[in-house]
Amino acid sequence: MIIAIDGPAGAGKSTVAKILAQKLGFLYIDTGAMYRALTLKTIEQKIDPSDIPAIVDLARHSVIDLINDELGALKVSLDGKDVSSLIREPRITMFVSDIAKIKDVREVMLGLQRKLGKSKDSVLDGRDIGTVVFPDADKKFYLDAKSDERAKRRYKELVGFGQTITLGDVESDLSNRDKIDSTRECAPLRKAEDAVYVDTTDMSIEEVVKTLLGYL
Ligand code: DC
Repeated sequence: MIIAIDGPAGAGKSTVAKILAQKLGFLYIDTGAMYRALTLKTIEQKIDPSDIPAIVDLARHSVIDLINDELGALKVSLDGKDVSSLIREPRITMFVSDIAKIKDVREVMLGLQRKLGKSKDSVLDGRDIGTVVFPDADKKFYLDAKSDERAKRRYKELVGFGQTITLGDVESDLSNRDKIDSTRECAPLRKAEDAVYVDTTDMSIEEVVKTLLGYL
């Protein structure tokens, strides 16, 4: 069984997808983490973000893996190294949408995501899961929330990770990424026609999880 959860940053997708996967005993596949891992490698190798052929080559020669541990935590591995924390840093978030809009990079990630998703019952979260990666998913959700609420949530989360950041920084990052993610040519952020739309603005995580479970 495949459950697809799409929506903009800060709508609660990853938290909800993780809990849902845990409750159902499914694999949790954070597809954004894969683009983040590649962005980290691009920066570490000092590749110019505009050098598309070099980035595509890097994507084709990287080993990105997602490992769910027994406690439900997700480990993101890049070439055998645990990069779970590094990929959440602002220097990655700033560039990830530019890397994720490259068509051939998406092609590589698509292969990885389908392979992982077919290996076990899975919950995937991202931007194009219901539209492109698994258009035949058993259940599709589109989580959304008002932009100021999304920024507040992301701000809280990042402060929780120990990052020094202002709410204004988070707001401008979110609106910049929303714009790139939803206007790019290849697999833009869009609600699949058959996805259930859930506005999480005034909902707690528990309420969102309960709502989604109600549709399964
Ligand atoms: O969900 P996130 O913030 O970790 O995602 C990071 C970026 O990756 C996001 O700005 C857009 C991109 N992304 C994507 O293009 N397609 C996906 N399926 C998942 C993420």
